Amino acid sequence: MGSKITGFGAYLPPQRLTNSRLEQLVETNDEWIVQRTGIRERRIAAGEGTASLAVKAARAALADAGKEPGELDLIIAATVTPDCFTPSLACMVQAELGAGRAAAFDISAACSGFVYALDIADSFLAAGKFQTVLILGAETLSRIIDYSDRSTCILFGDGAGAAVVEASAENGVPATYLWADGTQGGVLRAQALPLGEDPLGVRAPQSIASRAVAMAGGEVLRFSLSEAPRAMDEVLRRAGITIDEIDWIVPHQANKRIISGIIRRYHLPEEKVYVNIDRFGNTSSATIPICLAEMRENGLLQKGQRLLLVGFGGGLTAAAAIIEI
Ligand code: COA
Repeated sequence: MGSKITGFGAYLPPQRLTNSRLEQLVETNDEWIVQRTGIRERRIAAGEGTASLAVKAARAALADAGKEPGELDLIIAATVTPDCFTPSLACMVQAELGAGRAAAFDISAACSGFVYALDIADSFLAAGKFQTVLILGAETLSRIIDYSDRSTCILFGDGAGAAVVEASAENGVPATYLWADGTQGGVLRAQALPLGEDPLGVRAPQSIASRAVAMAGGEVLRFSLSEAPRAMDEVLRRAGITIDEIDWIVPHQANKRIISGIIRRYHLPEEKVYVNIDRFGNTSSATIPICLAEMRENGLLQKGQRLLLVGFGGGLTAAAAIIEI
């Protein structure tokens, strides 16, 4: 028994945050941002939480798979920006969809989160525990960005992507690889709660700057340029195939320079690597499923194709999966 992805969906909030708008907020310019990152604009969820984005992506994925919410056995949401500590994002989505049969939980693996969720779903399905699983990557990163910090505010955006994964006689997820190096966690960090030094005392309100994403960009760049290819090598080895046998590479959209590094490292034709970072920026766990949903919508996914997904980022984490359409 294996598993297969049968539906893809995405939702991007309508409000655009362009490079020229960022020029008004911080000392930066369009040319610098495009050259260093490849990003031209990103989306911002004004007045909408992560659950709202996730539900819209989930509905699109269910429609693509031809499934009703009541058929779901499990919902796994990958996010670093849940609306609440509890209920989980997955439980909020379950309630909103009316997926009354489903178990639901969140995972936190930052930009590798969707690939982690896929591996967990595949493992449950291969074990015969469930029939139909919804996996989500959904973020409202704009809520944890300090828009006076030019080293981070140019990179991140909001969005959600989803996929329906079903038990299948075919092996639609032939190989996966998950990895983390928590010792490097400090290079990309967003604080959740202040320490309770005086839990009964009066607390000063937490400023956005103390909770915002803080990043040593150069170190994250170095990590990504070495660990994304290592995860790709490992998942190819596990599947017993070479990169030439892959139809599409779908990398986490963190920085066009990282994607170009992957293209150079494997001598890939550019048209085999899906890129939409110019329009959406880095939406962390949501980038890969948003790419997949766009590819589906644009007719780029054909039956029998093999895709390599690779995620990397906060944790620090890295993960790769090969999927067959
Ligand atoms: N606009 C203009 N100048 C900027 C700037 C901005 N938005 N942000 C930083 N700079 C400046 C720096 O202050 C520095 O100036 P200095 O030389 O006078 O000190 C100069 O540009 C170079 O900065 P540096 O940080 O070395 O640039 P970089 O080439 O490493 O690019 C990132 C910065 C953030 C784009 C890059 O490090 C990156 O993308 N890292 C990976 C981030 C990532 O993917 N994170 C998510 C992981 S999932």
